[in-house]
Amino acid sequence: MFDSKIDQNLKRSIVGGGTLLVVGVLAFYFLRHPAVMDVGYRPQQPVPFDHLVHVQQLNIKCVYCHTSVENSAHSTVPPTSTCMNCHLVVKRDSEKLKLVRESHEKGVAIPWVRIHRLPEYAFFNHSRHIQSGIDCASCHGEVENQAVISQKKSLTMGWCLDCHRNPEEMVIPTREISGVDIDPQLLKSEIPKGPTHCSACHH
Ligand code: HEC
Ligand code: HEC
Ligand code: HEC
Ligand code: HEC
Ligand code: HEC
Repeated sequence: MFDSKIDQNLKRSIVGGGTLLVVGVLAFYFLRHPAVMDVGYRPQQPVPFDHLVHVQQLNIKCVYCHTSVENSAHSTVPPTSTCMNCHLVVKRDSEKLKLVRESHEKGVAIPWVRIHRLPEYAFFNHSRHIQSGIDCASCHGEVENQAVISQKKSLTMGWCLDCHRNPEEMVIPTREISGVDIDPQLLKSEIPKGPTHCSACHH
């Protein structure tokens, strides 16, 4: 049917195309894969914000910026106005803060890249954990020592269940650095076990 040279070229391009397709699918899979299991995931952020400087050196508590974490399911990344409480004055001409100033002037949010994210079908509630005396570090590592924050835990179902079954092995009790207000009596009592029935996390 084909002249043998054309035939060979055709074969080569099919094999080549096939390899490209496989590589493409793999790349797509790994690039698109949700943050779950991405221990070490550390995206490039639009502003070089540094937790080590702000928390460890300046002693700003976590809840000063992540305000909703104590009382709602979701924590949030702070709005630009929180940054401007200081940066209207501090380092006001810094090149590193250019985007923060622009965001403030134009009223457009800074496009922070989300790091920790569960799939839609799994339900997680921050406030419930925080109010049981569980410190942020139990699940996010020592953020105050990370100049550039990255994901420290797998966030898989197995990870959730490990702690729910044996909380005493994984829970770090509330630390002062978080700024969370917890009854000291609660921290002395035994940590309750978490639920393991499916509907607790899958509604
Ligand atoms: C309570 C005050 C305070 C708040 C709130 C604050 N910062 Fe800062 N920030 C500082 C101080 C003080 C420094 C300087 C630290 C140093 O260099 O010793 C700084 C430094 C920086 C720098 C480095 C600037 C440079 O030129 O080296 C960046 C970037 C930055 N902050 C971003 C932010 C962002 C983004 C927010 C909001 C999410 C924020 N900061 C909130 C006090 C604050
Ligand atoms: C001065 C404000 C400020 C303080 C204080 C602060 N953070 Fe943040 N945090 C940010 C900003 C801005 C981001 C988004 C940029 C980034 O990822 O570095 C962030 C990101 C995070 C993230 C990743 C969110 C995601 O996308 O998954 C976690 C987790 C976090 N902070 C935990 C903490 C903990 C724990 C503390 C206290 C030990 C703390 N932060 C203190 C401003 C702050
Ligand atoms: C029991 C584990 C656990 C504790 C304790 C915890 N977090 Fe989280 N955090 C998570 C998980 C899981 C996610 C991803 C949630 C999602 O995708 O719905 C997350 C996400 C976040 C985010 C990204 C925005 C969001 O809400 O999804 C921020 C910011 C954050 N946590 C800050 C904190 C701070 C600050 C503390 C302490 C005051 C804290 N976390 C305590 C497990 C925890
Ligand atoms: C470091 C330990 C720890 C980790 C990790 C952890 N949990 Fe929990 N969780 C607990 C404890 C302890 C409780 C029980 C709190 C109580 O009863 O006061 C709890 C309670 C819960 C509840 C019940 C809340 C309610 O409203 O009844 C849900 C749902 C939950 N966790 C989901 C998750 C999910 C989803 C993950 C993983 C993404 C996770 N947890 C990771 C310790 C943990
Ligand atoms: C403590 C919270 C929690 C409980 C309880 C829980 N899950 Fe999950 N589950 C999760 C989280 C978080 C994920 C997403 C992360 C992952 O894929 O590991 C998940 C993922 C899954 C997935 C998708 C897995 C995959 O590989 O895509 C299935 C299926 C599932 N759960 C079924 C169940 C069943 C059945 C039960 C009851 C026997 C159950 N889960 C109990 C938290 C929980």
